[in-house]
Amino acid sequence: MVSSKACLVKSQGVINGKWIEAKDGKTFAVTNPSNGEILGHVPEMSVAETKEAIEAAAQTFKTWGKTTAKYRHDLMKKWYDLIIANNDDLGTIITLENGKSLAMGKGENEYGASFIEWFAEEAVRTYGEVIPSPLPNSRSVVIKQPVGVVAALTPWNFPSAMITRKLGPALAAGCTVVLKPPPETPFSALALVELANRAGIPDGVINIVTTLENVREVAAELCENKIVKKITFTGSTNVAKQLYKLAAGTMKKVSFEAGGNAPFIVFDDADLDEAVAVAVLCKFRTSGQTCVCANRIYVHQSIYAEFAARLAEKVSAFKVGDGLDSQTTHGPLIHERAIKKVEQHVQDAVKLGASVLVGGSRLDGPGHFFQPTVLADVPTNALLNDEETFGPVAGLIQFQTEEEVIALANNSDVGLAGYFFSRDVKRVWRVAEALEVGMVGANSMAISQVYVPFGGVKESGLGREGSHGIQEYLNTKLIAFGV
Ligand code: SIN
Repeated sequence: MVSSKACLVKSQGVINGKWIEAKDGKTFAVTNPSNGEILGHVPEMSVAETKEAIEAAAQTFKTWGKTTAKYRHDLMKKWYDLIIANNDDLGTIITLENGKSLAMGKGENEYGASFIEWFAEEAVRTYGEVIPSPLPNSRSVVIKQPVGVVAALTPWNFPSAMITRKLGPALAAGCTVVLKPPPETPFSALALVELANRAGIPDGVINIVTTLENVREVAAELCENKIVKKITFTGSTNVAKQLYKLAAGTMKKVSFEAGGNAPFIVFDDADLDEAVAVAVLCKFRTSGQTCVCANRIYVHQSIYAEFAARLAEKVSAFKVGDGLDSQTTHGPLIHERAIKKVEQHVQDAVKLGASVLVGGSRLDGPGHFFQPTVLADVPTNALLNDEETFGPVAGLIQFQTEEEVIALANNSDVGLAGYFFSRDVKRVWRVAEALEVGMVGANSMAISQVYVPFGGVKESGLGREGSHGIQEYLNTKLIAFGV
């Protein structure tokens, strides 16, 4: 699959440092979404292997959880260096299993590596506190301790970065992990563990259970098993809610980065060049398959026609194709289900009165391709406004007043990211504070960086990743000393 001297392509799960098959020998196929070809097979693991992985993580936690932060920092730095040194191969694996262009695959790998570097450096800064006591014969000290075994469930849209975003803080805090990667993109996860082994991260710190058919049972075991102390998940709001219910029985800590439905607002005083350029990136990154992609594009009526024409021109220039082709700007969608949803959103909007400025249809196979699409005059009751499309469709909606557009933007059960463009400094503050989201891009889309807190409000999830996200993997303990 890749041209490395020391191949990073692994086709087995990992328990306690051993590459293993499923007990019954079953496997499932992983396909390239650009052409439908089978890339390889990985084990179809079940509850039995999941219990073993949890047990291995628990045994290893007894030692890993007591290592010094400096020791973990040093190992993670080595891991980071290896991830960067293998950028070409890891980027190629991402492109092969996810479909995004090779430039995007390599970019994702670097983004993913940044979580390992950052949290290596956070490991040594998990400070406690000394609190002045009101009692003369007492001293109050607060320490931070790792929560224990963490179960991580990750999505296919960032096969690598959504793993390192969770494993970085978990390992830095002193936790051990059972990772269930998505069935569509397990090879990135397995390659990362191969490099963790080479970096010297001990056996049992990262365990991987691969599964497709048994995913419900495996997820239930991870959420219900008493040994697991924390669930961290990136994916849909519906699945997050199910995991939340399952984890409640043992009162686990949880972090959920769930669905979004990002509004993107262009006010009449916006810098139009900048707004169009950012809309293109923000809507069509990974062919529209990110939780923070612009999903509803509101444009002030006075600049609507100009904005629509400029956006349509840029989108018409995209080159859709196999991510390994150097001409490709935008790859396929992940699978047929994704195409069907995009098709449904486009057809629904058109039926309700929207018009197609660019694209609008699926492309013939092989591969799961949909034309990058711009729709004008999408009615506010269209599906596209209600749900995340998770595909390459920019739906434009006209608005007249700030009050009206804020109400439209906030009319959603989810609140992950929101973006707007305006040059009026007072409006910038007003709108940034009014949007009901966890992350606002004000004349910007720079929200996806390790340095800043990533996460949502409302039904977009719980907790924050990146930045101070190591706190999600630590317990706070008070020690009251009598003196
Ligand atoms: C996501 O789609 O879940 C994450 C996107 C990002 O990190 O920018």
